[in-house]
Amino acid sequence: MKQNTILIGFMGAGKTTVGKALAERCGMPLLDTDQLITAKAGMTIPEIFELSGEDGFRRIETEVLADLLEHTDHTVISVGGGLPLREENRALLSRLGTVVYLDVSEETVWDRLKDETDRPLLQVDNVVDKIREMLLCRRPIYEQAAHLTVRADGRSPGQIAAEIAEREGKK
Ligand code: S3P
Repeated sequence: MKQNTILIGFMGAGKTTVGKALAERCGMPLLDTDQLITAKAGMTIPEIFELSGEDGFRRIETEVLADLLEHTDHTVISVGGGLPLREENRALLSRLGTVVYLDVSEETVWDRLKDETDRPLLQVDNVVDKIREMLLCRRPIYEQAAHLTVRADGRSPGQIAAEIAEREGKK
């Protein structure tokens, strides 16, 4: 199996900040699927959603993931919150390395994303209800996709990274 560590979880779970802390701690490079997608498409995420819809964005996610599986090892990979939703992507993720789910409460998500403008799926009137509804639907999928689940509420990226490294045996 490949030696990547993949961070999954809801928007605002801290995948990027924890990814940075973990990469530094383990001396591994860090990649982020959202960044790879914007580089590949030459557009921002809101522009991709605007032009090609969520389906178009999800298609690029799968392409990027398949590419990572081909070319990447010994890397921390932070993936967009919706990437594990496609069954095809979950199968690719499990071959890519250890999948770690950063589990956060709806309150933490709300607190971090209340002034958010870059996530097209949260540009709705009632964001609180939207976050609750999406978390309810996605949690079981994240749990199913993950090898490890880490509670991320009220803890620093460094503390979370330390727990991941320890549980993965990369202390
Ligand atoms: C999405 C999460 C975003 C980004 C896009 C869709 C989602 O990434 O991929 O806006 O469906 O949850 P982050 O989880 O890094 O915010």
